[in-house]
Amino acid sequence: MSEIILGIESTAHTAGVGIITSEGKILSNQRSVYIPDKGEGIHPREAANHHSEKFPILFKSALEEANLSPKEITLVSYARGPGLGPCLRTGATAARAFAYAHNIPFLGVNHCVAHLEIGLLEGATDPVLLYLSGANTQVIAYAAGRYRVFGETIDIGIGNGLDKFAREAGMGFPGGPKLEKIAEGDELIDLPYSVKGMDLAFSGLMTAAKQKVDAGHSLPSIAYSVQETAFAMSCEVSERALAHTGKTELVLGGGVACNSRLREMAMTMAEERGVKCFVPEKALCVDNGVMIGWLGYQMMAADYEITDDDNRVNQKYRTDMVEVTWR
Ligand code: ATP
Ligand code: FE2
Repeated sequence: MSEIILGIESTAHTAGVGIITSEGKILSNQRSVYIPDKGEGIHPREAANHHSEKFPILFKSALEEANLSPKEITLVSYARGPGLGPCLRTGATAARAFAYAHNIPFLGVNHCVAHLEIGLLEGATDPVLLYLSGANTQVIAYAAGRYRVFGETIDIGIGNGLDKFAREAGMGFPGGPKLEKIAEGDELIDLPYSVKGMDLAFSGLMTAAKQKVDAGHSLPSIAYSVQETAFAMSCEVSERALAHTGKTELVLGGGVACNSRLREMAMTMAEERGVKCFVPEKALCVDNGVMIGWLGYQMMAADYEITDDDNRVNQKYRTDMVEVTWR
């Protein structure tokens, strides 16, 4: 019998409720994004307030769109980390309340692994994942029971870097899509290209970009150069991971994977290596409840035993802490 899973996302700026079937059919993907005041970063408590205010309407809209009553949901899954404490606790409380009220089993899953698993729904079986989001920038592949991090940022996440630069340049949040819109030019401004072995660094790049703004360069050229540099670094490390692991599939994930130029660069690199590139639709790259539900289902379908830990949030729940029992 088909299962129907409700997934809850609330690790950072996005409150999301998604509904997906065990066959991978998406019945609803409701999201609401907390946008901080202009010039400010995310305040965890205010983001959490936003989420607790929005969750009732997100649950209602998701069930309505899917044309389901709560008792038809067979599993509730929520993101128990990594993320901002107050936001995580809000999602966990919403999950627990809904699950207890309707007597449905529930479990907490890893947000980063969810970004990865939803990419497998595109058809990849054993890929290298380039996971580019706000707080995270990792190149990941499965080996010996875990998703191993082959390379990652050693300072800030690429998305947070883009957001910070855009904020300082006077644009609103989120910065990534705003920079993409204005990025234009044939003048590639020289910016720090920081690849250290399999790791990356973005902080110096974003600071240098801000200095170019102060020095009077045009914003479209700087945005273009920031994208070219940051994405080339990310593709270089992914290519090396593909070479080292011998894997023949690349999957993109995380909010920054919405960027058309990144998609184009990754696809070119994959094509030149004879590797298949899978890119989920944008609504599944950004934070969303569907991917959380889908990972919960993968785990339960492989007889995962829910423990007390699954009821606890973990702000520092790293990708490679998860024992992958479902592959
Ligand atoms: P995580 O917890 O997985 O690190 P996150 O919670 O910050 O991620 P995501 O929704 O996965 O959130 O990604 C958000 C980031 O994606 C933001 O930094 C945003 O600027 C960036 N982003 C979204 N769309 C684009 C785009 N078109 N181009 C570049 N960056 C983008
Ligand atoms: Fe995310």
